[in-house]
Amino acid sequence: MTDSIRIMMCPPDHYEVDYVINPWMEGNIHKSSFDRAKEQWYKLYNVIKEHAQVDLVNPAKGWPDMVFTANAGLVLGDKAIVSRFYHKERQGEEPYFKEWFENNGFQVFELPKDLPFEGAGDALFDREGRWLWAGYGFRSELDSHSYIADWLDTEVLSLRLIDERFYHLDTCFCPLANGYLLYYPPAFDSYSNRLIEMRVPAEKRIAIDEADAVTFSCNAVNVNNIVIMNHPSESLKNRLTQVGFTVVETPLTEFLKAGGAAKCLTLRVTEPILPDVHANKPVESRVIRLEGHLLDSGIMNQALDLISELGGSFKVMNFNLGVERQSVSNAEVRISTPSHELMEDLMTQLIDLGAIAPPQETCDTNIEVVTKDGVSPDDFYVTTIYPTQVRVKCEWVNVSNQRMDGAIVVDDSGEVATARCCLLRDLKVGDKVIVGVDGIRTIRQTESREQRNKQEFSFMGAGVSSERRVELIVEQIAWELRQIRDQGGKVVVTAGPVVIHTGGGQHLSKLIRDGYVQALLGGNAIAVHDIEQSTMGTSLGVDMQRGTPVSGGHRHHLKVINSIRRYGSIAQAVQEGAIVKGVMYECVKNNVPFCLAGSIRDDGPLPDTEMDLIKAQTEYARLLEGADMILMLSSMLHSIGVGNMTPAGVKMVCVDINPAVVTKLSDRGSVESVGVVTDVGLFLSLLLQQLDKLTSPYLLTVNS
Ligand code: ARG
Repeated sequence: MTDSIRIMMCPPDHYEVDYVINPWMEGNIHKSSFDRAKEQWYKLYNVIKEHAQVDLVNPAKGWPDMVFTANAGLVLGDKAIVSRFYHKERQGEEPYFKEWFENNGFQVFELPKDLPFEGAGDALFDREGRWLWAGYGFRSELDSHSYIADWLDTEVLSLRLIDERFYHLDTCFCPLANGYLLYYPPAFDSYSNRLIEMRVPAEKRIAIDEADAVTFSCNAVNVNNIVIMNHPSESLKNRLTQVGFTVVETPLTEFLKAGGAAKCLTLRVTEPILPDVHANKPVESRVIRLEGHLLDSGIMNQALDLISELGGSFKVMNFNLGVERQSVSNAEVRISTPSHELMEDLMTQLIDLGAIAPPQETCDTNIEVVTKDGVSPDDFYVTTIYPTQVRVKCEWVNVSNQRMDGAIVVDDSGEVATARCCLLRDLKVGDKVIVGVDGIRTIRQTESREQRNKQEFSFMGAGVSSERRVELIVEQIAWELRQIRDQGGKVVVTAGPVVIHTGGGQHLSKLIRDGYVQALLGGNAIAVHDIEQSTMGTSLGVDMQRGTPVSGGHRHHLKVINSIRRYGSIAQAVQEGAIVKGVMYECVKNNVPFCLAGSIRDDGPLPDTEMDLIKAQTEYARLLEGADMILMLSSMLHSIGVGNMTPAGVKMVCVDINPAVVTKLSDRGSVESVGVVTDVGLFLSLLLQQLDKLTSPYLLTVNS
């Protein structure tokens, strides 16, 4: 027996599976055998007594899980933090454990009432005493880690548990003597795994597989070179033996039914203090503010889900619910993360949702200066499609040229500060770029209940594509197109070659001819197949009248390309009468500017196709300026490009036969986009019918 090591245990007099608070207890209520449990517990007790002194705490009737003394609290030196149980089923154990700590000369610390922390079940000292590993995610709250670090003056490393079977840290993680670590990596999120790998060198990490994990092999008691556990596999035993441990196997099946094993049944109450180990600040916190139709728009849920998904935790400090249907709500939420890096990640995404730091907190954003053309300082804030404002000299400044995937450049040299979105490649030495997340906010139009319902209706309607629903959407789009045209607005069309293959060419041509289109964006193919169709009657060799391939037709498009190359440009070919109809013809004739952006798979290309992609992107962006509506017709590539260049607020209509493309393109988190899953040829034909109806003499007489 080693006198210097003391372990606290609680006899299983009242042990029983009485309720379900973890997945192991499910289906096991009253299924454990009391005699066998007793026998197994005493066996463990005797094994431990050979290696340490065992202190007993009196079991209390009505608290069946009290045997699991790992959850009594956390001890370091003569300090004990008594647990705050997450489930009410165990909260009654707290006073008994507290009393024991007090009677045994410990200075007892108690966490705030609503801050769960389940003791040594979720907090394990590195066996060299260098730091404390602390778990969160199921039973213990991340914010408890700050208190622990403070009270015990130790460095705390937070690990996030993500598999509910391994709900306490000690179910999947066991620091061993000599710096070894026995653990089950899939129980942790990737950030935590990285942290573990940074602290524990590869040769010291003993990662186990699922089969050993589910028999609670990590739930082991380690005293010097002895490792006591329930039932490890032969291979795990060998691995441990090879690195100098002696494995002592002792069956604990009855306790497994409650989700515990060897380690859970013990609490080491002699944890030595290392003089040169001190507290860190394990948790970073800040307060954010959200405002708008927080409940109706779902933003509140989204924000809280996001915080949890990323491994942070939150406390809603204030929530002022807008009581009338039209009144907005606001909330203040304190968020915590286990690292600065994660805080920045989380804040960036919360800013995209419209969260702001309370204004009194920041007067300026953080700025770094560009030192190499076309390269931003690391850590730059990446822009979104949403209108953005930044704090400069304690004022909110609008960011101009809003688009996604850029950096924000601030100019505060003049009387009025300005800020603009800037692509990485356009950055110049000396530009002041915003880094970090302080003093940035995006303006999100949080939708009211009505708006959201309307959007869901139209989108879902398109998703299931009952024909009547498509018709309804087309009716609405036709009406809006008409409005825009009549008010001198701007509609930009992006189109893929499918428009031509599906017979939509004639309809798109008519749209252009009738003044509904102010710019056309596409690639080489739409132009090639359009001209192929208007000059040879085929589209990629398929006869557009009969729908059958023409012999030798697969060469048609190359002949077309060659002939346009001879003319020098599409416009020239139109001028000389070589093209007399079609989409490109109408563009030329009606002075509708177009940009054809080249790609690696282009044949030819046509002389008009811009093969310098940076130039093509710039031209696309120029043609998109001031657009009121963008019609995206079956071109995933060009449409996504366009989406990235376009700020929120521009109406987008995305038509594609593939629902995934439609979802991707129209998911801009706002009312302004509509997705229609249908054949694009059919869509265009319906659209023209609707436009026709709007101008039909019948309507005119009714109106006048
Ligand atoms: N039934 C107990 C609970 O769910 C088991 C506790 C096991 N203890 C542990 N340190 N893992 O709380």
